[in-house]
Amino acid sequence: MIGMDIIRARDYEDMSLKAAGIVADLIRKKPDAVLGLATGSSPIGLYKALIDMYQRGELDMSGVTTANLDEYVGLSPDNEQSYRYFMDHYLFDHVNIDKARTFVPDGMSEDADAECRRYEALLSKIGERDLQLLGLGLDGHIGFNEPSEAFSDVTCCVELDQSTIEANKRFFSSAEEVPGKAYTMGIGTIMRAKKILMVVNGEAKAGILEKVMRGPVCPGVPASILRFHRDVTIVADEAALSKCL
Ligand code: F6R
Repeated sequence: MIGMDIIRARDYEDMSLKAAGIVADLIRKKPDAVLGLATGSSPIGLYKALIDMYQRGELDMSGVTTANLDEYVGLSPDNEQSYRYFMDHYLFDHVNIDKARTFVPDGMSEDADAECRRYEALLSKIGERDLQLLGLGLDGHIGFNEPSEAFSDVTCCVELDQSTIEANKRFFSSAEEVPGKAYTMGIGTIMRAKKILMVVNGEAKAGILEKVMRGPVCPGVPASILRFHRDVTIVADEAALSKCL
């Protein structure tokens, strides 16, 4: 567990509350925090916990800026499967964040290279992310950085692995509808965040989480690079940590 702070949670709800507490503490300390956000099933409970805090008057997100990790190529913001739609639905529409300061790559851009450059420049412009939230893919991906021969550097347009298409088809009516390409922050982009917060739950992730925490740091397990970041917190439930006991 080199340099990684592991917080053990009982279950998904406990994981979500513990991770939301870390995000909320940061926002309270730094009301104009810049957050890197993720989609997928892992952070939904965390977002719900933030909404609950906001509704109880315990959290003010009016000064926060956010930038999402990734977006499917070809999906517009009003497509229910797009990550922009996801973020609006699961968080932004329910808190007092200024939506003009919430950023997601533009899935509808005509020019993929230009969109990657634009997003990377935007990340520099909004300032260093105080915290980057991550989920963990079953194959060890973070963002849409799939296992490969080398760690990616900056925001790029990638082809999704078949295993990721299979894993994500639960959000679509069939695997054929899952877009084959996505924009994603690069591994280098992710590593530039000041703090990394990863949420991991469920037995299905136990094997890959063990590799991330104990296996070699290599691009075949993209999340393993997090061991070289100086401030990483993983909040994981007992099922996900079952191989690391
Ligand atoms: C989502 C993202 C992905 C997911 C990962 C885990 O923005 O970048 O890397 O975090 O695929 O997905 P879930 O949480 O659905 O298991």
